[in-house]
Amino acid sequence: MDELADMYDAEKRLVKALPKMAKAATCEDLKAAILAHLKETEGHVTKLEQVFQAFDEKVRGKTCEATVGLLKEGDKIAADFKGSPAINAALVSAAQKVEHYEMASYGCLHEWAGLLDNEEAAGLLLQILEEEKAANESLTELARESCNQQALGDSDENENESDDANDKPAKKQSAASRKRSAVLAK
Ligand SMILES: [Fe+2]
Repeated sequence: MDELADMYDAEKRLVKALPKMAKAATCEDLKAAILAHLKETEGHVTKLEQVFQAFDEKVRGKTCEATVGLLKEGDKIAADFKGSPAINAALVSAAQKVEHYEMASYGCLHEWAGLLDNEEAAGLLLQILEEEKAANESLTELARESCNQQALGDSDENENESDDANDKPAKKQSAASRKRSAVLAK
């Protein structure tokens, strides 16, 4: 119940924070992904209320200090990287930290509900867990497909300029950049 209250507070904070994060994103696909997850997050609040009911418990929230901290860091990232080509990669990183916290929490909650033989609660928690995992995967894909490349954009131009004298093929630079992006996305 304590962990449920923690996540109930976390989801409610995210409902308020995700529109701000979407506004800070300059990549249209990232904006859309964040707003799609906002809809799911609103659903998570409702599902958690149903989980409390499935345990015949009163719905309650308890300040989730981790989410408070992660969102504070997200706000700072949005401010620090405003106008930078790295803004979207930085926002993906902030959002994925939230998703991983949620995945850990819902993984535990789902197991515990199963141990307590509450199938209804376990089912609801598994649905939320699957949506958090899917949201995290979409963020990884977006990072690999565009955000990380965009972040490397400026430095790549500089690298290519300095390599002109060596007549290094630009293709190789792109491959190296792609590799770096893949590492960043993990
Ligand atoms: Fe959620």
